[in-house]
Amino acid sequence: MTVILAIPKETGEREQRVALTPDTVEKLCEEGLDIRIQSNAGKAANYLDENYRETGASIISDRSQLFSEADILISIQTPPKTDIEQMKAGSILICFLWALQNEETVTQLKEQEITALGMDAIPRISRAQNMDALSSMSSIAGYKAALIGANKLDRYLPMMMTAAGTIAPAKVLVLGAGVAGLQSIATAKRLGAVVEAFDIRPAVKEQVESLGATFVEVPDLDEESETEGGYAKELAEDEQERQRQVIHQHVKKSDIVITTALIPGKPAPLLITKEMVQDMHAGAVIVDLAAEQGGNCELTKPGETTVINDVNIVGPLNIPSMLAYHASQMYSKNMMALLKHLLREGEPTFDFEDEITLNTTITHQGEIISPMLKSE
Ligand code: NAI
Repeated sequence: MTVILAIPKETGEREQRVALTPDTVEKLCEEGLDIRIQSNAGKAANYLDENYRETGASIISDRSQLFSEADILISIQTPPKTDIEQMKAGSILICFLWALQNEETVTQLKEQEITALGMDAIPRISRAQNMDALSSMSSIAGYKAALIGANKLDRYLPMMMTAAGTIAPAKVLVLGAGVAGLQSIATAKRLGAVVEAFDIRPAVKEQVESLGATFVEVPDLDEESETEGGYAKELAEDEQERQRQVIHQHVKKSDIVITTALIPGKPAPLLITKEMVQDMHAGAVIVDLAAEQGGNCELTKPGETTVINDVNIVGPLNIPSMLAYHASQMYSKNMMALLKHLLREGEPTFDFEDEITLNTTITHQGEIISPMLKSE
């Protein structure tokens, strides 16, 4: 049996990406899959129908046919309920599912006996690095956050020695030095800024310094601030207060603050208070990458840029979509790695002894599989 793999056009607001790019489609066609792409699915990311046609894939204009005939359906965002309704029992859906936050979709997938895999649930382990779409997208977001900050700022980032005098480099502070934060640091450094960064995980100090930034130390933080999975743990209330006092001093003298702090499964930690914003200079910029989870800054409005006390507070949403061409390329490579992990002689197989398959599979044959959901 030839497996039909379908890629719909994304329908989400602000969504410009496409789940598979032509070079990946070509490789998967060579594996014997019958690949079908909705007409204009890649257009917003500058991957055109003719590019896909050249790979051996077919272009389909009927969206409901695409959903109803697919054995494997691949997208970036979770498709709308009405699209999932068209899918047949036993088919496979792979996309960002955010299963913990989307109970209703998980119930629908379970009841329809769809095997659903969450790209956001891929474990952050070395073996799964090439499938880790969250990291790819965060790295894009971190890069773009530095550019958004630079664009919004009414100053140069690099030091400039000109006939009209010497201009001091801008000061950039990055809070949270995970995947996105490290990329923000690297980008701000490349633009010539003087960069400082802080994270509650002491392990990242070395990485921050290797990028040429200064690590801000907060005394007496719990050494055990990291989980086995490499993610951060929530700080105790007194530690959070101590952290805010130190951060306040650094925020005050910064031109751009980029916040990227995240504790998985929790609302974004509050790092920048109203009082801190009041102490920033006129024209300073805060780029809050955690806007989607409520924001690391008390005054962030998700999806908006607000000016408070002459400080610009930017809460951008879906940043990877702003770099749709490369974001699609990276997502597509991550997806291909996951597909290769699942496919045996062109047929998808599910071995739940395998850590990657177990953690990534949310529903299968009418059951919840994901240990993350089972422990809820
Ligand atoms: P990550 O888990 O790799 O990094 C988060 C970092 O925050 C960790 O290093 C953690 O130790 C640190 N952290 C946690 N609590 C902290 C605190 N109180 N103070 C300082 N640091 C703290 O996450 P990643 O992948 O870098 O994502 C960062 C943020 O960017 C997330 O909120 C994510 O949702 C967001 N994001 C936003 C996008 C957008 O389009 N707006 C796109 C991609 C990511």
